[in-house]
Amino acid sequence: MKRFVFGAVSCTFILAVNSLYSSSDDVIELTPTNFNSEVIQSDSLWLVEFYAPWCGHCQRLTSDWKKAATALKGVVKVGAVDADKHQSLGGQYGVGGFPTIKVFGSNKNKPEDYQGGRTSDAIVDAALSALQSLVKDRLGGRRGYDSGRQGGRENGAGSKKDVIELNDDNFDKTVLNSDDVWLVEFFAPWCGHCKNLEPEWAAAATEVKEQTKGKIKLAAVDATVNQMLTSRYGIRGFPTIKIFQKGEDPIDYDGGRSKADIVTRALDLFSESAPPPELLEIINESILTKTCEDHQLCIISVLPHILDTGAAGRNSYLEVILKLADKYKKKMWGWVWTEAGAQLDLEKSLGIGGFGYPAMAAINSRKMKFALLKGSFSEQGINEFLRELSFGRGSTSPVGGGALPKIYILEPWDGKDGELPAEDDIDLSDVELDDFGKDEL
Ligand SMILES: *[C@@H]1O[C@H](CO)[C@@H](O)[C@H](O)[C@H]1NC(C)=O
Repeated sequence: MKRFVFGAVSCTFILAVNSLYSSSDDVIELTPTNFNSEVIQSDSLWLVEFYAPWCGHCQRLTSDWKKAATALKGVVKVGAVDADKHQSLGGQYGVGGFPTIKVFGSNKNKPEDYQGGRTSDAIVDAALSALQSLVKDRLGGRRGYDSGRQGGRENGAGSKKDVIELNDDNFDKTVLNSDDVWLVEFFAPWCGHCKNLEPEWAAAATEVKEQTKGKIKLAAVDATVNQMLTSRYGIRGFPTIKIFQKGEDPIDYDGGRSKADIVTRALDLFSESAPPPELLEIINESILTKTCEDHQLCIISVLPHILDTGAAGRNSYLEVILKLADKYKKKMWGWVWTEAGAQLDLEKSLGIGGFGYPAMAAINSRKMKFALLKGSFSEQGINEFLRELSFGRGSTSPVGGGALPKIYILEPWDGKDGELPAEDDIDLSDVELDDFGKDEL
């Protein structure tokens, strides 16, 4: 009977919740750590599924994906990325929904979207036809099979313009006094690994500069001519990459050496170094417009009236929002809140009233579209809502009126419990006692 759960069975169950695949399958589990060496550097054809363990379509695909992997063993590689856990990897390949399947063929830098069916038969057919074109490409010399591996280099070798050159003279002034985070490569001109790294480093520098607005910098030091730095930082092997943050000892970069690995690490550093997002009360129009226009999304919470929750209840809502704001810090969204009924036009334009309070909406002010939190206003419910948003999903509606609504100027919340409207204005002597009892209650 199902109610008897033996140790081993419950273990398997727990594993299955965390990850849809295990090492006993023929599906190769891919992560940011092994993706480059397994897939990008590989000569094989790869079919890679980007999934989320909680996604129903992914769960339904699992057994066919495993079957296909077993059938294709030694012929075509079949992998899977838990893109919920490894969002950076999903993000890098523009994964917007689950499951997303990509075919990494002769040019590993340009995977193609898999459009076929989701049965093992359909997957195997598609793999074989992709394999056939890969082999024919090689035979025809159209894309030599090394071109995939070198594609990144060819694409990225254009310019080293965003790699900052450092030397014994300018290092302290430029790096140690800087508020920015620096990733510094110590290289030797004759070193082969440095040459391999160079185009990846250059391409990563450009991307990191764009994505962090220059807050994370990539630099290079020729260690053979800058002996002071080399000896100060004990550089022995080449290339050595160190991370410098103001007021801290440098740490060694121990990640992969592909552009993707470097960018991922740099963006992590960026989000770690970013201050926690602010959560502002909407007390005038500029707070809302600034928050919504300066960020890709602004997340608006409408909290219950203070008389319904008191200060303690309100603060616990604010705490939950701040916690999630911090968790999704990397997204660089804007965060604001207001009290139920205080900004009625705003509520109306987001259709919030009907869902009760507290409520939450996310506005994309460029598209003038919004999404509403449908689940519970709890850490878990909000997290699910935000996670969908972070993958660009969730159903959206146009903002009512097509523009940000009128915002009223209010006094900010004083942090206290609310008070019922004062009743002592009524002079009881004006009320005839006979009036009591006449009203039906
Ligand atoms: C809106 O409120 C913020 C916070 O109190 C204040 O800094 C800002 O100057 C106000 N803007 C306008 C236009 O009133």
